[in-house]
Amino acid sequence: MLLTIRSLTKLFPGTRALDGVDFDLKAGEVHALLGENGAGKSTLIKCMTGAYRRDGGTVALEGAEIDPRSTVEAQDLGIGTVYQEVNLLPNLTVAQNLMFGREPRRLGLVHTRAMRAEARAMLRDYGLELDVDRDLGSYPVAIQQIVAIARAVALSGKVLILDEPTASLDAAEVRMVFDVVRGLRDRGLGIVFVSHFLDQVFDLTDRVTVLRNGRKVATEDTAALDRMRLIQHMLGRELEAVTHETAPDRGPRPPMLHFQDMGRRGAVEPFDMAVGQGEVVGLAGLLGSGRTETAELLFGVRPAHSGTARDQAGPLNLSAPRAAIAAGFGFAPEDRKTDGIVADLTIRENIVLGLQARRGWARPIPRTEQNRLADDYIKRLDIRTTGREKRIGELSGGNQQKVVLARWLAMNPRFLILDEPTRGIDVGAHAEIVRLIHELTEQGMSLLVISSEIDELIAVSDRVIVLRDRRHVAELEGDAIAADRIMQAIAAVAPQEVA
Ligand SMILES: Nc1ncnc2c1ncn2[C@@H]1O[C@H](COP(=O)(O)OP(=O)(O)OP(=O)(O)O)[C@@H](O)[C@H]1O
Ligand SMILES: [Mg+2]
Repeated sequence: MLLTIRSLTKLFPGTRALDGVDFDLKAGEVHALLGENGAGKSTLIKCMTGAYRRDGGTVALEGAEIDPRSTVEAQDLGIGTVYQEVNLLPNLTVAQNLMFGREPRRLGLVHTRAMRAEARAMLRDYGLELDVDRDLGSYPVAIQQIVAIARAVALSGKVLILDEPTASLDAAEVRMVFDVVRGLRDRGLGIVFVSHFLDQVFDLTDRVTVLRNGRKVATEDTAALDRMRLIQHMLGRELEAVTHETAPDRGPRPPMLHFQDMGRRGAVEPFDMAVGQGEVVGLAGLLGSGRTETAELLFGVRPAHSGTARDQAGPLNLSAPRAAIAAGFGFAPEDRKTDGIVADLTIRENIVLGLQARRGWARPIPRTEQNRLADDYIKRLDIRTTGREKRIGELSGGNQQKVVLARWLAMNPRFLILDEPTRGIDVGAHAEIVRLIHELTEQGMSLLVISSEIDELIAVSDRVIVLRDRRHVAELEGDAIAADRIMQAIAAVAPQEVA
């Protein structure tokens, strides 16, 4: 056995994040680590990589017990990690990123020619021919992710840990990263793979270990596992049939917002869009097709160069997020790390932040009201926490995502834009969010939902707009909202070409 973990325990104040977990990793396997938000996946990984010290149990690498005190020490032992957000430096070149900390030197100086040559040779192992003198940040995320993998493997070379590495990749990019991972498995590395995308787990992995509430509930061969049983392991119950196949057909909605000829050079071609009261408009399209750009334009993040926005009462000013908020708009962005959370604030503070900003800081929201709001959303969104006063940085990734959503809901906007609302959110909570969207529309809120998951769009949308190459290319309504129709519009192919 390559890596053997026995009775691993990790405590945080008020939380037993890991409780006697056993885990085995073989050389030459891809082993999925699954579980709900807050189950303990990231914590288990951090205990292997030296990011956290364990409170109990043993970790052995090739039979010898190890206790890395830092990620560097873990790397030296052979354990490397790649996280969801690429942890390299976008402003350094590809070669510098691959080689930093171990640059070839001559007479005390970095030997750049040798460094470039070595970087190129490393990438060739992965089938990549890159200009290693270009900034890493100028390459697509998938390439950056592969460079991060190449670096981790070069530094460690026995165990590779991937914590949600595919969360921001499109389908073609995922395939590219998976090919790299399969190649490494065939070279005998042991690979731990964390993901909330079950299709990817079935596609890539050899075995699966499921955690629930800090305990291991099962380890099984992926091939012997079916989807329902896997979900049962994760949730500890059967997933109720909560997702409607399609959104209920509620007939035409009373008109509310009209966007006409709205566009921005280099971001989105001018488009017209109407949103009814209580209506959900879904935006489909590949990464980079202009979905997020459409949202940013409507919210004034990057304001429109052309067009007008109006409601029944008259024109709306959407020149900046402040103005959009004043018009009753809300926008929960995709990248919660940069746009969303304030890690040092508590859950309560993060939830009331938007509301407080809109009211003005001179009129603080009474504490009892803050408490009520926080408790209400913790319950409604099933945020897993020991209480409202926990710092949000101490929550698991998926639960942080829910807090960001709660902040926008607390402001009760009339038009809420959700960019990938279920990214990083587990299957159970996924269904909760679909249900929540239905509930909000019944209360009259209108939504614009951006999602790469077509089933999710179909489940929530009254109307689906498809984008391609920064253009709104199709609009589907009612029975026309179907996976094959959406796929056709995204790919711009004739119907018979879609399998
Ligand atoms: N630094 C920390 N301080 C306090 N508590 C923490 C800290 N990190 C994690 N926890 C708690 O440990 C538990 C496990 O969290 P962990 O991040 O491992 O979950 P996860 O399975 O990775 O979830 P997700 O799918 O949402 O990423 C949670 O209850 C979380 O709140
Ligand atoms: Mg996590």
